Amino acid sequence: MESGAIFAGLQPNFSAVLCSSRCTSALLPPIFADKRQLCAPSLKLRKRSHFPTYSSNNVGAASLASNVTCELADIDWDNLGFGFMPTDYMYIMKCLQGGDFSKGELQRFGNIELIPSAGVLNYGQGLFDGLKAYRKQDGNILLFRPEENALRLRMGAERMCMPSPTVEQFVEAVKVTVQANERWIPPPCKGSLYIRPLLMGSGAVLSVTPAPEYTFLIYVSPVGNYFKEGLAPINLVIETELHRATPGGTGGVKTIGNYAAVLKAQTAAKAKGYSDVLYLDSVHKRYLEEVSSCNIFLVKDNVLSTPAITGTILPGITRKSIIDVARSQGFQVEERQITVDELFDADEVFCTGTAVVISPVGSVTYLGKRVSYGNEGIGVVAQQLYSSLTRLQMGLTKDTMDWVVELN
Ligand code: COI
Repeated sequence: MESGAIFAGLQPNFSAVLCSSRCTSALLPPIFADKRQLCAPSLKLRKRSHFPTYSSNNVGAASLASNVTCELADIDWDNLGFGFMPTDYMYIMKCLQGGDFSKGELQRFGNIELIPSAGVLNYGQGLFDGLKAYRKQDGNILLFRPEENALRLRMGAERMCMPSPTVEQFVEAVKVTVQANERWIPPPCKGSLYIRPLLMGSGAVLSVTPAPEYTFLIYVSPVGNYFKEGLAPINLVIETELHRATPGGTGGVKTIGNYAAVLKAQTAAKAKGYSDVLYLDSVHKRYLEEVSSCNIFLVKDNVLSTPAITGTILPGITRKSIIDVARSQGFQVEERQITVDELFDADEVFCTGTAVVISPVGSVTYLGKRVSYGNEGIGVVAQQLYSSLTRLQMGLTKDTMDWVVELN
């Protein structure tokens, strides 16, 4: 076992007790924006009776145990953005090509070593995923549909010729990593713990071929809103020349290269004052695809439309959840091709994603023509769906969908 590693399953474990001070409403579902008493306050973590024991054969054990604290991490919980913040532990599990993942373990968070000829570094043989953990008011920790992320990673791994952890291994690894980093989970209503699983070809290659070894890694970081606008509407610009994905390509899986591919257009858009880029299909340059890091929905009357999953669109778990929530609330939802012209006729537009949750779109600019939505605020439908989804994710409403996994 590598230095600093501890056995998975023997992780620090705390529960939270609420204290009396108030929290801000910055990340509160709008429905609660005026009801701060429903929002939990600052909290302290309390050691549980089953305190962890650590592997005795690793040199990191002593310092690990002494580093464990009952307090929340000492950071500015009121001003979380979507930036990386190192935490205490990460999870690592390896596997040879043709083999199965096994012997996953927690390690102190830190740099990893990769051979310069690793498949991921040379040929982009890598995937990532993203999910979130929320701290509930009673101190319990909630995950949202982690099996869906596991299944998506497995689907992506198949496309990228990589072995992948089983759904059970994935979910267990997520749980272990979140619990080990519990002091980094924001207090209720202040944000969430973003969980970033990676799967990469870590073995050496020189020719274009699947790597001989694979690494599955999970790290976490406390986060607030993805866009600096928070819940205020974002301004998108449509990109007509650069494309995010092509038919038959990898746009439908979370391979790392998809995200490098958007940086050029995104950087140019931001330099012009836009929040992000909305991509069109690469064949007709006419149909909406997605934004750099999230899916898109249009609202017209009682109908929600979103681009169908046809291989170039990332199958977002928030997208899928919003479709189900909207249908359960009586909206009609259509997954289909959406022309760029339809943007000019929509009542509302919003984006969905794990990182962004729901982000209202205030305007879209296409070939110099700008269409605006609403009165500078979140639209009625987006707000309703945002409230329903986030209340579910934060454990503020009954989970009739059976989507929430409680950790404690
Ligand atoms: C997520 O929503 O988890 C994503 O994958 C977006 C990421 C590019 C920040």
